Amino acid sequence: MDEEIKTLACKTVDAVYRKIKRASKTEFLKFNNNIGLGADGTITKYVDKIAEDAAFNIINKSENKVNVLSEEIGFIDNNAEYTFVLDPLDGTRNAARGIPFYSVSLAIGKKEINDVEYGIVKNIPTGDVFVAEKGFGAFYNNKRIYVPDIPDKELLSSLSLGRNFDRKTITLAKKDKVRSLGSASLEMCMVAIGALDFYVIGKEYLRVVDIAASTLILREAGGVVTNIHGEELNLPFNLNEHTSVIAACNMDLIKKIVSQN
Ligand code: IPD
Ligand code: CA
Repeated sequence: MDEEIKTLACKTVDAVYRKIKRASKTEFLKFNNNIGLGADGTITKYVDKIAEDAAFNIINKSENKVNVLSEEIGFIDNNAEYTFVLDPLDGTRNAARGIPFYSVSLAIGKKEINDVEYGIVKNIPTGDVFVAEKGFGAFYNNKRIYVPDIPDKELLSSLSLGRNFDRKTITLAKKDKVRSLGSASLEMCMVAIGALDFYVIGKEYLRVVDIAASTLILREAGGVVTNIHGEELNLPFNLNEHTSVIAACNMDLIKKIVSQN
């Protein structure tokens, strides 16, 4: 892939980061306002809209043409070879309520998660950045990262709760140490650096924009990403498809999670 396309992706992520950082000081009270429905049928909040606008401000000005699949606006077909799969803001509720754990997530691929070649997830409150390139590893603030060989003795997980709570999640929630952090992309990156041993969303709820970049990052760090049945996760670049997720450092742990009832 052209360096220029990767540079455009980095500039796009940075523009969103800078916009939301500034806006969180000057117009935070508007962040939670509902302003319509996004392409995937979910509510678009003010903070989602300004994040997406900041991204398109960069993409539209570029001479490098890419298609874009973005959470609020949907698919923009520019007849290009590559598609930017963008979640301008993953963890909208956290951002809108002032919980400092949300990201901008961007993956570059052609048709589906399994052909994603480049991924970036930037933690907006901290400025920490996770980047991966297929075949070249995953990096956290420019430092190569690897999942731990074995999980911690006392497992620490993040489980998606509320509407996404299924039977297996209830069983897992009673074990070891549990969090529910509210930004799938960042929770998967936390698994990639060993901060969490695993992340689970038990129901078919996540969309490709939420997880395309973080799936590459975790896999390049040596981790495993499957659906709730332990099958390799893949999704086409299409906002109508949803999936469950188990993200963990290795397949043994995934098997252990899948066998819980
Ligand atoms: C949400 C977050 C959250 C997950 C939800 C997603 P959004 O994404 O990733 O962790 O539990 O299912 O919708 O809406 O904030 O981009
Ligand atoms: Ca979002």
